[in-house]
Amino acid sequence: MTEETTRISVGGDYDVVVGRGLLDELPAMLGDGVQRVLVVHPRALGATGEGVREALVAKGFEAYAAEVPDAEEAKTAQVAAFLWGVLGQAGFWGWVGVVWVGGPPTTHLAGFVAATWLRGVRVVHVPTTLLAMVDAAVGGKTGINTPEGKNLVGAFHPPVGVLCDLATLETLPANDFVAGLAEVVKAGFIADPVILDLVESDVEGARSATGPHVRELVERAIRVKADVVSKDLKEADLREVLNYGHTFGHAVEQVERYQFRHGAAVSIGMVYVAELARLAGKLDEALVDRHRSVLTALGLPVTYRGDRWPQLLEAMKRDKKSRGSLLRFVVLTDLAKPSRLEGPDPALLQAAYAEVSRT
Ligand SMILES: NC(=O)c1ccc[n+]([C@@H]2O[C@H](COP(=O)([O-])OP(=O)(O)OC[C@H]3O[C@@H](n4cnc5c(N)ncnc54)[C@H](O)[C@@H]3O)[C@@H](O)[C@H]2O)c1
Repeated sequence: MTEETTRISVGGDYDVVVGRGLLDELPAMLGDGVQRVLVVHPRALGATGEGVREALVAKGFEAYAAEVPDAEEAKTAQVAAFLWGVLGQAGFWGWVGVVWVGGPPTTHLAGFVAATWLRGVRVVHVPTTLLAMVDAAVGGKTGINTPEGKNLVGAFHPPVGVLCDLATLETLPANDFVAGLAEVVKAGFIADPVILDLVESDVEGARSATGPHVRELVERAIRVKADVVSKDLKEADLREVLNYGHTFGHAVEQVERYQFRHGAAVSIGMVYVAELARLAGKLDEALVDRHRSVLTALGLPVTYRGDRWPQLLEAMKRDKKSRGSLLRFVVLTDLAKPSRLEGPDPALLQAAYAEVSRT
């Protein structure tokens, strides 16, 4: 290994390792006693999954690979049952581990299967998308979708380790990489403004998986998430700050029937909530402008169609931060100063929508 490897501890419970060519780390992460390992990967990442399986075999593990559908298609009860079948048929009793390779949907699925098999087995996450590295892989959230909604079935099951191999980002489609930057920028606004300075100092570099600051951006965003989740594993007040921009963003995703990239929706959502905070007299205009300028420079959207207010409002009322019919938003009062806005005047909600509406 030529490049340096960084270890970020999540509350002293497990490490997120960032670097290149990290598969040598796997045996120590899986820990003593584990002999059998299931490597779960989406169809699109067959070669990467096989590489992980072969590395485990070379280290003396009995390793199997299981292919699951790409993206959200993987997060179903049928695919979970398929993996339980694979584990049962391959004799996964006792000390076993699951390693998953892929984006957030694969994390959620494989994490859920690891949480439920034998009432919980060890799981290592090997995220291959930027979004998965800085968000889904850290914190232990797992889940599958049902016909009634996303993530309605799941459990908190922290991994025993996370391997973020920066080389995997180089094959990620450019639009998926840029969408992941929305969560990186979010970490900048809620907790670590150096992220914003780095992006603004070299926007083109930030947009590329081989850019000079990618490693630092990834590490800083992971530190923000690790810091928050280590203080608050479950979805209580503190962890909520990670949902900055997500109330409106999730509403856009729902209205668009999930055909909109998560990061793109969060980008619009951050501008929406910044405008809402400004209209509520909590945030100054310069910081709202900074949201627009940094996100636009990265190529992320900051406006949405102007004819969807009733549907968006309805979707926001179903947000997990809402209390009954009382809407609740994570807002900023300044850089890195998150606060809450409860039950804002409906006129303000709609006025903020007007500010992000495309005409
Ligand atoms: N809180 C959360 O856990 C959370 C957060 C954000 C998004 N999500 C969900 O995650 C999904 C989008 O995330 P995403 O775009 O990061 O993941 P994704 O898994 O949907 O990846 C996008 C596509 O790229 C492929 N891919 C993944 N890694 C690759 C690589 N290194 N090289 C080439 N191809 C690769 C995938 O197989 C997939 O087809 C959405 O469904 C979203 O709702 C969940």
